[in-house]
Amino acid sequence: MTFRTFPKAELHLHIEGAAPPKLIAGLAREKSVDIAGVFDERGNYAYRDFLQFLKVYEAATQVLQTPEDYRRLTLAVLEESAAHGVVYSEAFLSPDFCGGGDLAAWREYLHAIREAADQAEREMGITLRGVVTCVRHFGPEQAKKTALCAAETADDWLCGFGMGGDENAGEQGDFAYSFDMAREAGLRLTTHAGEWRGPEEVRAAVRDLRVERVGHGVRVIEDLALVDELIEKDVVLEVCPGSNVMLGVYPKLAAHPIEKLRERGIKVTVSTDDPPFFHTDMTKEYEGLARVFEWNEDDFKALNQTALAAAFCDDATRDRIA
Ligand code: ADE
Ligand code: ZN
Repeated sequence: MTFRTFPKAELHLHIEGAAPPKLIAGLAREKSVDIAGVFDERGNYAYRDFLQFLKVYEAATQVLQTPEDYRRLTLAVLEESAAHGVVYSEAFLSPDFCGGGDLAAWREYLHAIREAADQAEREMGITLRGVVTCVRHFGPEQAKKTALCAAETADDWLCGFGMGGDENAGEQGDFAYSFDMAREAGLRLTTHAGEWRGPEEVRAAVRDLRVERVGHGVRVIEDLALVDELIEKDVVLEVCPGSNVMLGVYPKLAAHPIEKLRERGIKVTVSTDDPPFFHTDMTKEYEGLARVFEWNEDDFKALNQTALAAAFCDDATRDRIA
């Protein structure tokens, strides 16, 4: 089967982390911004470990300075996703990088991103929805500003709120105020947990932030009672196998727990996270799962049904895509 054209839904994609290196390098030249250290000699993003990855990620965002830059970024990202058969994508959007958490600025960035999304939908048949994300290592006070941006712009398109960044910075519960604000504005919730820290972190995410999806969450495999609790609560995992292998959470795909988690009965979905950083795309993710775990067409169909059912979009959008 040809995986490239197989219709896919992707729920976990950071828009800046999906930036083609050429776009970032081109913007750096145009604006004369020095981003030394972001790329290796071959023009790939260069980092050694997770914390350096976060630094390089943030350094690359320094060239994304205007709504027009985000319009170009969004188009480039969606073009790449559509080329890999993605028909529905949820992207993490960061008011922290789009105007520093200022609401008026954020509105302008969001407008530009949505213009690009409309164009991509018309021209490439890919549907994008936005999930505002706060950055954990920027701290709870900054997250409140981010949550306010999210709450003030929440609608059918801007439909979720989440948190990424360094999982070792503070506790999930430190961000409860922001997640409560987002929930009250009607936003659906997800947070990165169980990528670096163990099962206890996922337990805290569900208990303290009341999220319905978890970004990564793979380390719950270390606590089967928790896996069963998550099944009972219908929590869905946004699993990013290529990301986990590239960042060293697992040494190789064969050691990744996605198959064990699926067998146990927890709902898993598959995404790329930050594709150029991890030298991956949705085609490669599917090819890997087929090769290593012998997933077949029916498995991938079921995977996408799970993803669409867990998508934060409204039912009319879901029905149109399914
Ligand atoms: N931001 C972008 N990618 C991330 C990841 N894999 N974990 C946490 N924060 C992120
Ligand atoms: Zn992520």
